[in-house]
Amino acid sequence: MSKFEQVKQNLLNTQKTWLITGVAGFIGSNLLETLLKLNQTVVGLDNFATGYQKNLDEVKSLVTEQQWQNFTFIEGDIRDFETCLTASKDIDYVLHQAALGSVPRSIADPITTNSANITGFLNMLEAAKQNQVSSFVYAASSSTYGDHPALPKVEENIGNPLSPYAVTKYVNELYADVYARTYDFKCIGLRYFNVFGRRQDPEGAYAAVIPKWTAAMIKDEQVFINGDGLTSRDFCYIENTVQMNILAATGPEEARAQVYNVAVGDRTTLNDLFDSIKNALITNGITINKSAEYREFRQGDVRHSQANVDKAINNLGYTPSHKVQQGILEAMPWYLNNVS
Ligand SMILES: NC(=O)c1ccc[n+]([C@@H]2O[C@H](COP(=O)([O-])OP(=O)(O)OC[C@H]3O[C@@H](n4cnc5c(N)ncnc54)[C@H](O)[C@@H]3O)[C@@H](O)[C@H]2O)c1
Repeated sequence: MSKFEQVKQNLLNTQKTWLITGVAGFIGSNLLETLLKLNQTVVGLDNFATGYQKNLDEVKSLVTEQQWQNFTFIEGDIRDFETCLTASKDIDYVLHQAALGSVPRSIADPITTNSANITGFLNMLEAAKQNQVSSFVYAASSSTYGDHPALPKVEENIGNPLSPYAVTKYVNELYADVYARTYDFKCIGLRYFNVFGRRQDPEGAYAAVIPKWTAAMIKDEQVFINGDGLTSRDFCYIENTVQMNILAATGPEEARAQVYNVAVGDRTTLNDLFDSIKNALITNGITINKSAEYREFRQGDVRHSQANVDKAINNLGYTPSHKVQQGILEAMPWYLNNVS
């Protein structure tokens, strides 16, 4: 039995109380779904900046009435310290996901990104410390590798940030490190690498590449590839990300005060990604008429990204369950049902 299966079995026998910030977003709502299905008690905090009530409604439709009763939602902003204090009271495990994602959004509006991602983060960290939560796991980012050229990325070797967003995520790590050394409050940072899956928003200027292209192909709209198509990423299916959050929250004391890559350890070019999505849609009976169109590289993007996930495997018992292709096939029905 994998470590994750063991942890899930243990959780089914012990009801813990979790706080998920950013619960109405893509990753937050997937964490909520998994934890409610494990009969956990969950408090969720979100201000709907980029999250949706419809994500919460969908989770409600996927769990039993009894499981849904175990969920309390607080509509509020992590930039308000009192809200963070209230939300983290009597909580065992915090999964802090709330932030403004997207490199281009941070370039267009660094001040708002800074306030949610740095002030909001510090508020949550301090509130969780004051409330003596047992563990605090937060969404860090692969953008912290910045311009460091080495591949695959190992946690110790980072470069200079390439965007305001990357700065904010790095500052989170610095605060977490200082809180471990100053207050003995030990968190775990999860450096997500391009997470994708159901409920990831396909709409808007800041949509991530997989939902954006999938929606465009379903609607027979033009797909644009930024650059020459050889830019590569370690795309990580949501199930792997959920697994890492739960392993990190429940993991051993000695695994804390660390950051971990959350990915698969593979590298997919944008050209290959386009073909994978196209093939998955063809498998689902969709006809794709248009080829991709190439345009300028996007500012602030790193050229290649691929993780070494050994640290997560060794310290937390992580076993990625889905490679990119499997994840795309699994996510496709959701997009076909939700893109109009
Ligand atoms: N999706 C990825 O590929 C990826 C990669 C690296 C890091 N991350 C990080 O993972 C986390 C979750 O990302 P996601 O993809 O689910 O994005 P998302 O936009 O779907 O979810 C973020 C949620 O946080 C909420 N939020 C934002 N500002 C808030 C505030 N001030 N107060 C309360 N709630 C607030 C939003 O309303 C939203 O529901 C973020 O911290 C993001 O930076 C994501």
